[in-house]
Amino acid sequence: MSGFSDTWLRLREPVDAASRDRGLVASLQRRLGQPIHVIDLATGTAANLRYLSPLLGRSQTWQLIDHDQALLDAIPMRLSEWSRARGSMLHDIDDGLRIEGPDFGCEVRYQCRDLARDLAALDVPRGSLVTAAALLDLVSGPWLAALAEHCRAACARVLFTLTYNGEIRVDPPDPEDALVLTLVNRHQSTDKGFGPALGPAAAARAVELFEHCGYHVETAQSDWRLGPQDRQLQRALLEGWIAAAIEMAPEQAGVLGHWAERRNEQVASGRATFVVGHTDLVGWPLFDAQSRG
Ligand SMILES: C[S@@+](CC[C@H](N)C(=O)[O-])C[C@H]1O[C@@H](n2cnc3c(N)ncnc32)[C@H](O)[C@@H]1O
Repeated sequence: MSGFSDTWLRLREPVDAASRDRGLVASLQRRLGQPIHVIDLATGTAANLRYLSPLLGRSQTWQLIDHDQALLDAIPMRLSEWSRARGSMLHDIDDGLRIEGPDFGCEVRYQCRDLARDLAALDVPRGSLVTAAALLDLVSGPWLAALAEHCRAACARVLFTLTYNGEIRVDPPDPEDALVLTLVNRHQSTDKGFGPALGPAAAARAVELFEHCGYHVETAQSDWRLGPQDRQLQRALLEGWIAAAIEMAPEQAGVLGHWAERRNEQVASGRATFVVGHTDLVGWPLFDAQSRG
């Protein structure tokens, strides 16, 4: 199990979709072959496919990878609900699913794999799109360097979205916000299974690594902006932040507990707005003529 529940992924999916930068996807589209072969790392329940496939259009194949079998098991149901809601047809095929929509056709296969251990064995067909949403802040520097090299070797295009970048702003301000942010960001850099995590440094590191591999790289902000309509997600975030902060500084549990009480009251009464900083990144290999658009 990964600790990322289907409930949490469902809660964040609409906010993720509203926050992601569409301009980067448009830049990428011109650099993709036909059919578009997509590898979605740490797919969860395939939110990245639900967001991207209608934007990419045309004919696509998706390889969805995660190490959490329970999340992968939820994918057929999630894709079935989604297909029905948008008027697409979903069929079983031998080893996966086929989605026929008005704007695209897509074959979907999924695989349970621990990417922390098995990255080198990941099959990336030449010119594929390697993508991940909300993954890079979990990984370590050496793992990300290995991913960049793996993508370079396959002339892959890349799209990494919703990487947490270390910024949290809550309004109204509170005297203990700085303490909480410091502790949360310290926790973000602890090992999430890939070695010490890059946490808030991940997006900047990804830019450096892919540029070093000969990529053209573009980034854009994809911050969550949460108001009273997002109370459930705000509450879940507070729960996660306070647990992380207390884990980092158990001796501050009293002060942190009072901060959480104040914040929970503000959320309950619809008086709090949150901004959680994220970065989207797109890249393509400058050394590959086909990807120059
Ligand atoms: C924040 S969730 C994002 C899920 C999905 N991309 C989305 O946007 O909804 C992080 C995902 O990384 C997966 N993950 C964490 N460690 C992993 C590993 N070592 N190998 C494969 N997947 C992993 C988790 O199971 C989880 O689905």
